[in-house]
Amino acid sequence: MFCTVVEQDFDNDFLSQIDRVEELVSLTDKLDDETLICECFCVDVADIRQLCHENKKPDLEKLQNEFNLGQGCQGCLKRIDSWVNKIF
Ligand code: FES
Repeated sequence: MFCTVVEQDFDNDFLSQIDRVEELVSLTDKLDDETLICECFCVDVADIRQLCHENKKPDLEKLQNEFNLGQGCQGCLKRIDSWVNKIF
């Protein structure tokens, strides 16, 4: 029986993506309805889902008009990358 060792060139970018699989997967996990997005105006994920269900993506203008989201400390807007893709 022969055993052949094949030398492979791994793409460093690919390897770094494998290292980040858990992080990348967690980026796409959907949030629970009760998760509070805007603490100043008590806007949770369920509120956003209900208001923006037609387009299946958060509409900031609608959210600001309806719930005043982001009109206080703006913390919810500053961390928008952490939640905007986890609503729908
Ligand atoms: S957390 Fe949304 S305005 Fe403060």
